[in-house]
Amino acid sequence: MSGKSYTKTIKDLSPVLYEYIDEPNRAVYEVHRGKLDPETKTCYDETTIFNGLMGVELPKTFGHYHPRNKEGYFFPELYALLEGRAWFLLQKPERSNPKIIKEALLVEAVRGEKIVMPPEFGHASANPEKKDLKLGNWKAEFDNDYQIYEILHGACYYFLESKEGSVDIIKNSHYEMVPELIKVKPKKLSKELENLEFLTNPEKYLNLLTVENCFEKI
Ligand SMILES: [Fe+2]
Repeated sequence: MSGKSYTKTIKDLSPVLYEYIDEPNRAVYEVHRGKLDPETKTCYDETTIFNGLMGVELPKTFGHYHPRNKEGYFFPELYALLEGRAWFLLQKPERSNPKIIKEALLVEAVRGEKIVMPPEFGHASANPEKKDLKLGNWKAEFDNDYQIYEILHGACYYFLESKEGSVDIIKNSHYEMVPELIKVKPKKLSKELENLEFLTNPEKYLNLLTVENCFEKI
């Protein structure tokens, strides 16, 4: 860890929340940015999403897309679930219109699992448990693109706790087209991806970075 860290509050997340929450300074999650590993040219970060609903909405990260590498291929990312249970909302937009989502996945993951964010998918992480969620992630050296999530008031679905305690999954009406959400779990990470080269040179691994190879339906 480089020691560089920051906290995101309700106020920081307000552009992507389902409803206005009058607790501006409450911390929702905390990120520790790691150093660049000179060997793999990747960075390792850790994120803790604190337990505690935001109104009726599950605590979550802002959500972002990734840029392309020098060869023109979108960067993927690798997550590890360190503590708790996570819901990752992955969405693949039409390139000419980010309000149209072609594919939406809810990845349910538990402690010890590794999760690949395939190229072209934007992603946000939510904490469905009544305890903190801790995630590790490896990525190439690039800046996340938060703008589309900000403009569209978040991901294409919201996770809202019902009065009975179950979670209602509600489409975000700021999008023009949102497909049905497909629930999946991560498959075991392919051996060929373990050296992390896919994070910087995804074009060499496109056959392994597919939804079919990374996830199975539940
Ligand atoms: Fe990412």
